[in-house]
Amino acid sequence: MALHPLHGLVEQLETQPIIFIGGKGGVGKTTTAAALASYYASQQQKTLIVSTDPAHSLGDVLNVRLNNEKTRISPYLDAIELNPDVIVDKHFAQVERTIKAYANPDMMPKIREHLRLSKSAPGAQEAAMLESMCHHLVEAAGAGYEHIIFDTAPTGHTLRLLVLPEMMGAWTDGLLAQQRRQSKLRSVVNHLDSHNQKNDKNDVANPFAAKKSDRWEQAVSVLEKRKQLFRQAGLLLHDRTQTAIVLVMTADVLPLAETKRAIEQLEDSKLMPAAIVINQLISTTQSDEFWRRRAERQQHLLQDIEQSFTKYPLYPIYLQQTDVRGTDALSALLKLV
Ligand SMILES: Nc1ncnc2c1ncn2[C@@H]1O[C@H](COP(=O)(O)OP(=O)(O)O)[C@@H](O)[C@H]1O
Ligand SMILES: [Mg+2]
Repeated sequence: MALHPLHGLVEQLETQPIIFIGGKGGVGKTTTAAALASYYASQQQKTLIVSTDPAHSLGDVLNVRLNNEKTRISPYLDAIELNPDVIVDKHFAQVERTIKAYANPDMMPKIREHLRLSKSAPGAQEAAMLESMCHHLVEAAGAGYEHIIFDTAPTGHTLRLLVLPEMMGAWTDGLLAQQRRQSKLRSVVNHLDSHNQKNDKNDVANPFAAKKSDRWEQAVSVLEKRKQLFRQAGLLLHDRTQTAIVLVMTADVLPLAETKRAIEQLEDSKLMPAAIVINQLISTTQSDEFWRRRAERQQHLLQDIEQSFTKYPLYPIYLQQTDVRGTDALSALLKLV
């Protein structure tokens, strides 16, 4: 059998600063992510686990109430649950502040209405969530974490958003160049003016000139920063010494199909999964007819799985009698042979 012993996964990911856990709903992403995080924290490796699931399942698994801010679970483990609604609201409030700085005040009601509608536009939540994930990704190393574990890998769809600011690059660069030309021109005009008029008189004539250009520059710099952030995150994501993507699946037909698609999408984005976890396996030594049949069915699918994913190491996690909750039980799950 081509399944590797589970402790191999822990060893393989030991030196990875960034770990993404992806897969279909219900296969065991949160359990796997929390198990890895709990294990590394128990080894005194400072770990941050980030969930994007609004159903609070990470908090449930860790037996702690979580929110958008870091919560200390144990001396070496912090956890965050990113709430998409809160993040989208924050994101659009920031966009509104930026626009307000240079837009005509009469336009603001219309702009606000537009922003309100944009919040529910397709992709808005993904974009805001991706930006927030990128912030954590880029900041984690600086904050002294040895591992940052995301309980959800970005899909091919969200990954494409990463190149959006890059595509907008030409546009922001154009704006900045225009801005620089204008301020240069303005300083020449001001200089000429000061020969004819007193400086204070000039200020009274055009009190907003300098201020307005500052604000415009600020607005463009917000775009510049976002571009920079996504570029940095993109580099980290594609660096295999930094980032490992682990896909979780069960030995069932639909998760197999979904995992095949996920791998194609990831490979298209030049991202290779580091490993695949086959969760909820049933051992074949069952006396009960029902469970024996299920175990046989899984073994049959495992052959299919092994043939489909020859490039990636496969690690088994066996089905436990009860849900696995709390850091001790979670890290013990990875120590099982
Ligand atoms: N190996 C396992 N043994 C027993 N229960 C498990 C196992 N893996 C996951 N579960 C349970 O299955 C359910 C779904 O797991 P979860 O990790 O929340 O999946 P996901 O995050 O992919 O939606 C949870 O109730 C979890 O406790
Ligand atoms: Mg989950």
